[in-house]
Amino acid sequence: MSDTKITAMPNGPLMVEGPVQLVDAAGNAVDTSERPRVALCRCGQSANKPFCDGAHGRAGFQDPTPHDG
Ligand code: FES
Repeated sequence: MSDTKITAMPNGPLMVEGPVQLVDAAGNAVDTSERPRVALCRCGQSANKPFCDGAHGRAGFQDPTPHDG
């Protein structure tokens, strides 16, 4: 079992907790050393991709996964 946990937040980002190596589309490492958790955008609206910047709320992002709330 991995020590890394990825949680799809309701109508929000993918929350990544635990050891992770993040690289951009060019294969360059993205520094996450200052972040205990990493929230990755899945709505496509963030101005700070690959990270979530809260734009999903303003955009009214709705994920297709059934959830409470
Ligand atoms: S999921 Fe938060 S800005 Fe895209």
